[in-house]
Amino acid sequence: MKKILVTGGAGFIGSNFVKEIIQTYPQSEVVNVDLLTYAGNLENLKDIEGHHNYTFIRADIRNKDKIEEIFAQFEIDTVVNFAAESHVDRSIVEPEIFLTTNIIGTQVLLDVAKRHWKINPDDKYCRNYRDGVKFLQVSTDEVYGALGKTGMFVETMPLEPNSPYSASKASADLIVRAYHETFGMPINITRCSNNYGSYQFPEKLIPLIIYNCLNSKHIPVYGDGMQVRDWLHVKDHCSAIETVLRKGRVGEIYNVGGNNERANIEIVKLILDVLGKGKDLIRFVKDRPGHDRRYAIDNTKITTQLGWTPKYTFEEGIKETINWYLDNLDWVEGVVNGDYLTYYQQMYEL
Ligand code: NAD
Ligand code: DAU
Repeated sequence: MKKILVTGGAGFIGSNFVKEIIQTYPQSEVVNVDLLTYAGNLENLKDIEGHHNYTFIRADIRNKDKIEEIFAQFEIDTVVNFAAESHVDRSIVEPEIFLTTNIIGTQVLLDVAKRHWKINPDDKYCRNYRDGVKFLQVSTDEVYGALGKTGMFVETMPLEPNSPYSASKASADLIVRAYHETFGMPINITRCSNNYGSYQFPEKLIPLIIYNCLNSKHIPVYGDGMQVRDWLHVKDHCSAIETVLRKGRVGEIYNVGGNNERANIEIVKLILDVLGKGKDLIRFVKDRPGHDRRYAIDNTKITTQLGWTPKYTFEEGIKETINWYLDNLDWVEGVVNGDYLTYYQQMYEL
């Protein structure tokens, strides 16, 4: 029986993952540790509240004593680390918390996992671990930096992160890699492109467009709107992580993406069309500082070596997502306040 610690499981991707894993592996025990920052919400998990193989603990991944206690109590053998500050705009305004949560938090988890999983507790530099243990770091394609008009991110590329957010995620990746190289820690890293789907906080592009459309508010498009992202449905990201947990070769990094490149302005127009709103809601505003122009993922490694493929087409995924927001207006109102502006709008008065 697997005993899985999921961190950040009350956020967007983490909550989708926890719900999937509990259904797919009824024999596993899932412990969800989340600090419940503005981005974490127990409403996302109400379907599984009280489930026999699920426990929620409100805690900070930077709190070593608490993480020690959780490892000891639940005999954790697998970690999936989603917990992070995840919004690029916020990292431009307030970088520090990105460094403490995303880097130090990851190092604390690694350290505690190392102590609990090594075969010889007295050996500081032990490279031998109990069978079946694994630390999976959920990372992002943003660690690679920006692409020009052509080319794709491959796992062997150098890291050139441009925002405090992506620099903190790249630093975490390097710490995870170092624990593997120095201490032999059994790890995998996944680097995924932009996700969309249910329960995404409306500070991110797609739910922000939907929210603003529904409230007939202007949609702020940064710069010329021609920045390109490679969009993947959150459930496809979750299935990729689950595949890497089961089949990923220890020490390996896997890119995850859906071969679905779209310019931001194209996404804005598509959602306006589906919701029957006019283009007059579009406002081109000052660009995000250090804005990465284009991301595109080469997912050859995970598809050929592990047999993972995305299931959703963007057309069906986006319609399903829009319908989810329409059906869950209470959830949206619960996570934002009535005068809601994005963090970036508030700071720069766009
Ligand atoms: P999110 O912001 O929706 O959720 C983050 C969760 O982490 C929240 O529930 C929050 O309460 C929790 N958290 C924050 N600080 C914590 C701390 N110190 N201790 C414990 N919990 C804490 O983020 P998301 O979009 O679901 O992203 C999850 C992970 O996936 C992140 O690591 C992110 O870098 C990565 N990722 C996201 C995307 C994307 O498109 N959203 C793409 C690739 C990778
Ligand atoms: O690529 C993976 C990353 O995708 C994840 O690691 C991050 O956690 C996640 O937040 C996301 O980062 P982005 O910066 O790409 O996502 P965001 O939704 O903030 O923005 C998507 C694009 O839309 C980006 O080019 C900026 C633009 N944008 C965003 C907002 C919020 C706008 O033009 N207007 C907006 O109001």
